[in-house]
Amino acid sequence: MHARPALALLISLIFTCYPAYAGHHGDAQRGAVLAEKCEGCHGGNGNSRIDGFPNLANQKYFYLVKQLREMRTSAQGRTGVIDKPEHDYSELLRQRRSNEIMDAFVFNLTDKDIEDLAAYYSREPCNAKSDGAVLTAPQFDIRCQVCHGERGIASNRNVPNIAGQDAAYLEQQLLNLKGASENDGAQKRRASIMEGQVRHLSEQDIRDISLYYSRLPCR
Ligand code: HEC
Ligand code: HEC
Repeated sequence: MHARPALALLISLIFTCYPAYAGHHGDAQRGAVLAEKCEGCHGGNGNSRIDGFPNLANQKYFYLVKQLREMRTSAQGRTGVIDKPEHDYSELLRQRRSNEIMDAFVFNLTDKDIEDLAAYYSREPCNAKSDGAVLTAPQFDIRCQVCHGERGIASNRNVPNIAGQDAAYLEQQLLNLKGASENDGAQKRRASIMEGQVRHLSEQDIRDISLYYSRLPCR
């Protein structure tokens, strides 16, 4: 089987073209102060205990920066702050990530705020405790492992860790990505790399894989 080396090569090529946010790694101490506003939903140090809300502790710095920038763009677009000619909403309609709950918290963040917050959360230890035994991986998990690592901890800096993440949150994201190409203009999340991965999964597959990853140790 030569499929995996070939796939790995293809993926490294994809990531070469993937937007990486160069620059500093942020000021985690300043980020900790900014993060006080986020505690109510994401927990004291990024370890959320609310069903459906993501843990942020020990998540990848570059991944967090990318998500926060995308959600900020959506929040600003929604309220008309981004001043676009009326006929050119194409970019906003194909927004990459959008969630109204987050709008108020990302709307006014500067690039530096985002980097500092990402620096803070990426360095906090993840303490998520699984509420059940580790499950057997669904067979198609072999595909996910190529990018997300053997046990949901990715080695690539642009790929999020998904081990120990909240199950309901994972399920919602996978459903959002599966629905990304439908309902044009109202997507919650677009990420072409992932859209191809989830397109052929059934809702049951998505439930199974989400539960599977949620129970793996997050570090
Ligand atoms: C009122 C609750 C709430 C508050 C407060 C809040 N968030 Fe969120 N956050 C959410 C929800 C819900 C999601 C999931 C969004 C989705 O489904 O796309 C989320 C998603 C995120 C994500 C994406 C996580 C991932 O794994 O992709 C990041 C990063 C994030 N929030 C950072 C922050 C930061 C930084 C703050 C404070 C400045 C903050 N949030 C405040 C509710 C909140
Ligand atoms: C080719 C590489 C690749 C493969 C294969 C892959 N992923 Fe991903 N995955 C990514 C990247 C990159 C992201 C971040 C997308 C973004 O920036 O929004 C991601 C995001 C995710 C997220 C969202 C995490 C969060 O915190 O919101 C989940 C859940 C996920 N992947 C699950 C899976 C599952 C399940 C599979 C297998 C069916 C899989 N992935 C296969 C690269 C991959």
